[in-house]
Amino acid sequence: MTELSRRTFLGGTAAAAGLIAGVGAPLAAGSTAASGPAYGPAAHVAKLDANENPYGPSPTAVKEAFEAVRQGGAYYVRDTVSLLKAMIAERNGVSPDQVALSNGSSAVLTFIATAAGQRGNILAPDLFWDSTVRRGTRQSGEIVRLPKTESLAIDLDVMEPSISDDISLVHVTNPNNPTSLVLDGEALRAFCKRASKKATVLVDEAYNELTDNPEYYSMVDLVREGHDVIIARTFSKIYGMAGMRVGYTIASPENTALIESYGLGDYTLNQAGMAAAVASYNDRGFLEMSRAKIFEGREMIEAVLTSVGLSALPSATNFLFVDLGGLNADDFQAAMAARNVRVRGVYRDYHNWSRVSMGRLEHVQMYVDALPPVLESLGA
Ligand SMILES: Cc1ncc(COP(=O)(O)O)c(C=O)c1O
Repeated sequence: MTELSRRTFLGGTAAAAGLIAGVGAPLAAGSTAASGPAYGPAAHVAKLDANENPYGPSPTAVKEAFEAVRQGGAYYVRDTVSLLKAMIAERNGVSPDQVALSNGSSAVLTFIATAAGQRGNILAPDLFWDSTVRRGTRQSGEIVRLPKTESLAIDLDVMEPSISDDISLVHVTNPNNPTSLVLDGEALRAFCKRASKKATVLVDEAYNELTDNPEYYSMVDLVREGHDVIIARTFSKIYGMAGMRVGYTIASPENTALIESYGLGDYTLNQAGMAAAVASYNDRGFLEMSRAKIFEGREMIEAVLTSVGLSALPSATNFLFVDLGGLNADDFQAAMAARNVRVRGVYRDYHNWSRVSMGRLEHVQMYVDALPPVLESLGA
């Protein structure tokens, strides 16, 4: 390696480490070969930019993951894969061959988008968590983006007549990211029944467990009834396991086989992630504690927004989409970062909308404390 390429390579690696920790250069925890790895953000950083649950993983998940690595780290994972599939299948009233597991739900979502892109185009709202469809349509297929309603909700009335013959997949995220809005369960259910006669409907339910009625808002009953609907779920959000990479789909056996055909199955899964998922799937105590902290954080931020004359969309999730009025979200992001508070910047052409995730309450408090002076510094 030449000196130049060596430097470029090392520079790139350091930058990537900062990105993975979710912190930019001024906030970086400082993983270097000399100091060893940093497994999370630095303690003085309020990392409120990726909708993680920093109260996780649950203590039982951590204990089991450790055991799994100690006893099983030398071996490819197998038994826990079957166990987790069986647990998910049982809870959702489907058979294990209707569950596909992957490295976070990003992987299954990308497989679905890739398969759909090879058959046609993907219909979606203009603003949603679109990383996987952008990746999936890189080789073939396009994303057809539809305008949302005035209140920024996904417009099912516009979506339905837009399912033309070239659409192979309808992609709905409910609750949606970054808007935090949830579509009414019955309205979505009626839409999915009709829409799935024309194209496969994917409902990404990454934040379902954070709604006030997860069963009502989930479309998994449509899979049970045999509609052409795929449900995607993840252990990255309420379960607090974003770094352990476990997600899944629930779908017909045919759709499940198709999704699995794009990946390497068990070979992409790992002992620690599987063990942690099995341990926390039914850990009601941990899930309730997490929900309570998230709701408390949301109330803290909503209160400070009110006090400074701002507001956010009604949230069914662990994040808020804040209307900054006349302010640009990238400027706001930079000013908050200077105070060690990490939030998201501009999404597409939503220049004045800023997404903030709930974190540990002490980190939410940092947002609350930083907001008034930051607004003042930006002349708001
Ligand atoms: C709506 C939605 N779906 C899926 C994901 C992917 O998460 P993971 O791959 O960690 O399961 C995210 C991540 O933020 C998300 O917001």
